[in-house]
Amino acid sequence: MDQVVVNRRPGALGAHSIDHFAIEVPDLEEARRFYTLFGLEVRDENGGLGLYTKGHPHCWGVITKGGETKRLAYLSFGIFEDEMEAMSLHLDEAGAKRIAAPIGVSGSNGIWIEGFDGLPINIRVADKSSPNEKSLFETTSVGPGLPGTVANSKAPKVFPRRLSHFAIYTTDVGTAIDFYERTLGLRLSDRSGPAVAFLHGVHGSDHHLLALVASTHRGMHHVSWDVGSFQDVGLGYAQMARNGFLRGWGVGRHVLGANYFHYVRDPWGSYSEYSADIDYIPADCEWHAGDHAPEDSMFLWGPMPPGDFITNFEPTDAPA
Ligand SMILES: [Fe+2]
Repeated sequence: MDQVVVNRRPGALGAHSIDHFAIEVPDLEEARRFYTLFGLEVRDENGGLGLYTKGHPHCWGVITKGGETKRLAYLSFGIFEDEMEAMSLHLDEAGAKRIAAPIGVSGSNGIWIEGFDGLPINIRVADKSSPNEKSLFETTSVGPGLPGTVANSKAPKVFPRRLSHFAIYTTDVGTAIDFYERTLGLRLSDRSGPAVAFLHGVHGSDHHLLALVASTHRGMHHVSWDVGSFQDVGLGYAQMARNGFLRGWGVGRHVLGANYFHYVRDPWGSYSEYSADIDYIPADCEWHAGDHAPEDSMFLWGPMPPGDFITNFEPTDAPA
């Protein structure tokens, strides 16, 4: 049997992946339709829905039925099995407040702490689901005298390969950076003043597995899904637009992380992103974090984002 080789920074303690995210939505069938059209596998699990990518065993997202408004329920981070004891001590030393698992979450699932802004954070032993190397990015170009035609009727459906990152709203980007560095060992990749920041995993991950977006209160901004080409980003846009999901932002290219993107607005005013060719930060890389000008915080090229792109539609009274 082949040995799985994972990136790991010797002697470093910290989350290697976002294991999964959890949201509550008013209508599970609406969520099933959106994410299925997006190209994910949506499975009925534990009374809610599980989000999977085609051909990949990992559950990237958990959706349960909530109240009248979509709400970020919690984030779960994965650590290596031999780090659990040290991580538990480390969290105590860092002053992390232990909390009970949110109502409805059952089973043996590691440690729960109160995150910044009161967001429940789970730390569990899990396989490293973040990538161990930069993900394949393909371009195709036919030679001279050959047609590059792809007929609309034969346009392939886009199936994202994996979760890339998750972006949350926070009331204070600087304090949130400190929280995630101090507790989960995440590292700052880049930021733009008090507006936005991007954090990577200590054991090798995409340029960001967690993004922080300034807001009046906590919530989900977007979830990003990795695809293998710029063509897939465009085809993803088209498959959602054909099914009525015309609102969003893209196609464009980010400055920080350098990924090509298209964001599709979900039924609740947050976004799912098709992302391709995002920068990768290996476990042995000392990435030099920069604080970038506001004009570099969003995009290198592309259309202007919609006016409500960073409007937080989640309730302000979300229980911790
Ligand atoms: Fe993103």
